[in-house]
Formats: sequence, structure tokens, C-alpha cells
Amino acid sequence: MQARFAATVLNARHQAYRGAYLDLLKSQWQDWSRLTEAVRSGHPVDRDEQETPDYRRQFSWAMHHRSLEVAARVARQLDLGRARSILDLGGGPGTYALAFMERHPRLSATLCDRAAALEVAKDIAANHPARKRLMYLPLDFMSEPIPGRFDVVWYSNVLHIYSPEENLALFHRVLNALAPGGTLIIQDAFLHGREDLHSEEASLFAVSMLLFTERGNTYPFRETAAWLRKAGYVKVRPIVLKRGTGDWEGGIVAASRPIRPRERSARRRP
Ligand SMILES: C[S@@+](CC[C@H](N)C(=O)[O-])C[C@H]1O[C@@H](n2cnc3c(N)ncnc32)[C@H](O)[C@@H]1O
Repeated sequence: MQARFAATVLNARHQAYRGAYLDLLKSQWQDWSRLTEAVRSGHPVDRDEQETPDYRRQFSWAMHHRSLEVAARVARQLDLGRARSILDLGGGPGTYALAFMERHPRLSATLCDRAAALEVAKDIAANHPARKRLMYLPLDFMSEPIPGRFDVVWYSNVLHIYSPEENLALFHRVLNALAPGGTLIIQDAFLHGREDLHSEEASLFAVSMLLFTERGNTYPFRETAAWLRKAGYVKVRPIVLKRGTGDWEGGIVAASRPIRPRERSARRRP
């Protein structure tokens, strides 16, 4: 068993190789020992380390190795309706965008992230059958306008990096990047339950956000749903996947851009 693990997951020449994610976890081992420091200062432990292209590339490979299997499982279960275009906002290595396109042969994806992350995504997509349907959008989406109109915007594992105010402002801007009736789908480590303490994994992840981000956190599902309504979305609803198959348990919420009366009559016209 151990030998098989070493020959596959730890073997850089094997397709099951997950070394980049293991490297990330290993580097975080030291950081966790500085938790007291982060609590006392109120700042992440790697505050002085800059966002370098090298760091971003390594992190993107780690994200790819982390989500390769789960992305396919999520894509199999998410109903994208008749969507033809999806914006993967903060999509990093593009693992999810590729999984969605593999599942939906008429879907085109736009992958938005920092330039260094997109370099990794291009390497990963190079031999993928859906590569011609993938577009790249190098952008800081928090400070720059988001161009285009999409049927679906997929915001996965990014919510927890930002504060409630930043996420709310982004939800407002994403509304303009959605086609009438289009859907924003958010995947994250949501807190659930009456006390907003479940799951343990999501609570613990909040501590790692304290270690690694300036303003991030894990958020209650119902709070996130309330931000979405406040930003003008309708039909805010959880998307339930088969137990044990998602990235996080209870980790998906969808919300629609309303169709304005003028748009409704335009859609009716032949
Ligand atoms: C934790 S990773 C998630 C990657 C992928 N969406 C997933 O679910 O595996 C967060 C990604 O968001 C990107 N990101 C965060 N803030 C960003 C910003 N302001 N502009 C562009 N990309 C951003 C990061 O570069 C990173 O690739």
C-alpha cells in the first residue's frame, strides 16, 4: 500500500502525483507554530512575504493537485442548465473550468486570475480536449472592472480570502458581469448550524485564514445568502451534492441575477 502510494502520489512522473499540494501543507506546518503571533498581532504570519509570481505558480499547482478529483465530481452534479459561458473567477489553475467544459461540450470558460496562476493553467490545459474553449483573463478582480457577460460565474474557494465588505462589493460588480437570469455559484467552507460552528473542518479553516490572510474568514451560510440578497440577487439557494462528494460539506450556494422587465420583453421577441 505504502509502496503504491510512493509510486503514484509521490512520483512526479505519475499522473496521480500530488506533490505540490503536499509541499504546501508541509510549508504550512511551520506557520501553524506561529499562531500565537498571528493572534497577538492581528496579521497573517507571512505578511512580509510578497505576492510573487513564483509563489503564485507554486500555489496554483497545489490547488490543481488538491482539486483534481473533486472538481470532476462537483461538475458531474452541478446543473448548469443551458449555460454557454462560465467565468471562473479566481479560478487559479483552471481545474474546475476544465471539469465543467468536459461535462458540457457546448460550454466555453473564461478563467480569471493573476497572470502567474494563468501560466500554470495554460500548462495544464495544453493537452486537454476542451483547451480551445478556454479563454484567459489576467486581472485583479477586486480592483479592476470585470469585462464580459456570462451565463454563470463560478467563485470557488475565494470568498474566505476576503472580508464581508469586500465580498459584498464584489457581488454587486459580478451582477453586471452576468447575463439576465444568469447565476453566481459560490463554493466555500461555509459554517452551518444554529451556532454557526459546523463543520469542524470549516471552523478550523477559519483559523488558517487568520494565519494566512489579512481579512479572510469562513462565513456562515445564512450570512453569505443575506449578502447576496442585499446585492440584488434572487433565488438564493443551497446546492446539495451527494454526501461526501463535494469540496466542502454543504459548501455551495447559488443565486440568480433578476431579469428586468425590459430584458424580459427583449427575450420574448423573435
Ligand atoms: C484558494 S485559490 C482557489 C482556486 C480555485 N478557484 C479552486 O477552487 O481550487 C484562490 C484563487 O483566487 C485568486 N485570487 C484571489 N484574489 C484575486 C484577485 N483579487 N484577483 C485575481 N485573482 C485572485 C488567487 O490567485 C487564487 O488562484
